[in-house]
Amino acid sequence: MKIVVTGGAGFIGGNFVYYELAHHPEDFVLCYDALTYAGNLETLAEAQQNPHFKFVRGDIADRAAVESLFEQEKPDIVVNFAAESHVDRSIEQPDIFLRTNVLGTGVLMDACRKYGITRYHQVSTDEVYGDLPLDRPDLFFTEDTPLHTSSPYSASKASADLLVMAYHRTYNLPASISRCSNNYGPYHFPEKLIPLMIVNALADKKLPVYGAGENVRDWLYVEDHCAAIDLILRKGKPGDVFNIGGHNERRNIDVVKIILKALGKPESLIEHVTDRKGHDRRYAIDPAKIQAALGWTPATKFEDGIQRTIEWYLAHRPWWEHIISGDYQQYYEKMYGHRGTL
Ligand code: NAD
Ligand code: TYD
Repeated sequence: MKIVVTGGAGFIGGNFVYYELAHHPEDFVLCYDALTYAGNLETLAEAQQNPHFKFVRGDIADRAAVESLFEQEKPDIVVNFAAESHVDRSIEQPDIFLRTNVLGTGVLMDACRKYGITRYHQVSTDEVYGDLPLDRPDLFFTEDTPLHTSSPYSASKASADLLVMAYHRTYNLPASISRCSNNYGPYHFPEKLIPLMIVNALADKKLPVYGAGENVRDWLYVEDHCAAIDLILRKGKPGDVFNIGGHNERRNIDVVKIILKALGKPESLIEHVTDRKGHDRRYAIDPAKIQAALGWTPATKFEDGIQRTIEWYLAHRPWWEHIISGDYQQYYEKMYGHRGTL
């Protein structure tokens, strides 16, 4: 089988490329990625040595480029990870989120219809459900929770999900959707909470915690996410939507303190800064459906996964140092320069 992985030079897509090459060596994996600021070919350096892997640079919203890819490669399966993925960037510049996350999804699915595929899988997020209150730990997102978004990012992802369901119903496109909670692990771009805090702590820089740090995220080790997507592709039915998460809820401030402790750094590095606009309070997934239907459960406990992640960043300094030395610094200034401390 030939699997096109869009956005495979990014965090989760890159991990998925390695997951597929390791677990399905009979398959061929093609990564199609525009290499935006978040795409990094260094992530795919090892995959490039594998004869069952190929990289093609291209934009999912570029119809001619996508059609020529399908014409030449005739993929069996398309897994769409390609997206603008950072909430803070979506608040600064929403338009690119609409282009890639919504229009790009439509262009990919049009090509799937035209050339024929056995499965289109949309990698979505629990953020499409909005947020949960902090004082109701009994509430969780199920697949039936109404879509109710807060940020331009989550609105663009929810729009894409609606388009996928519409293509399934109207054109019978064999499509599925997964909505996962926050991932962490190797190759995570250091603009997101966990890798940012690790690399800042290593440099003895301040750790910018939004507001009081009481917002809650439900953390999933990235390899567990990859395993779930792989199962959905191969065993899930077209039209299915699955939530993916493993009851690993943590307050941001607690995550930051765990990282500082593991690195032997003082909590005085924590700096409470102005809160994110429209900041979602709590995400929490009910994974009962995927557990019952496909037998998926996460293999990695947060305590183990965070330790493994920190060790990965310690062992792969060149990977993130190359990022930080580039345009990332200007970006950092733009995002944090105007934030006053609390
Ligand atoms: P990422 O930002 O690390 O990577 C995105 C990748 O997409 C990059 O390689 C980038 O170059 C590529 N890309 C961006 N625009 C493109 C375009 N127009 N055409 C082709 N490629 C393009 O993102 P991630 O964290 O790996 O997230 C991957 C997917 O998973 C996204 O769809 C995201 O919404 C979803 N998701 C992420 C999380 C999380 O915690 N990171 C959780 C749930 C769902
Ligand atoms: P993030 O990694 O951006 O993921 P998401 O917003 O998609 O959940 O942020 C995770 C949480 O950490 C979120 O509540 C915002 C918070 N946060 C900070 O406190 N400081 C930061 O510098 C960043 C990037 C995030």
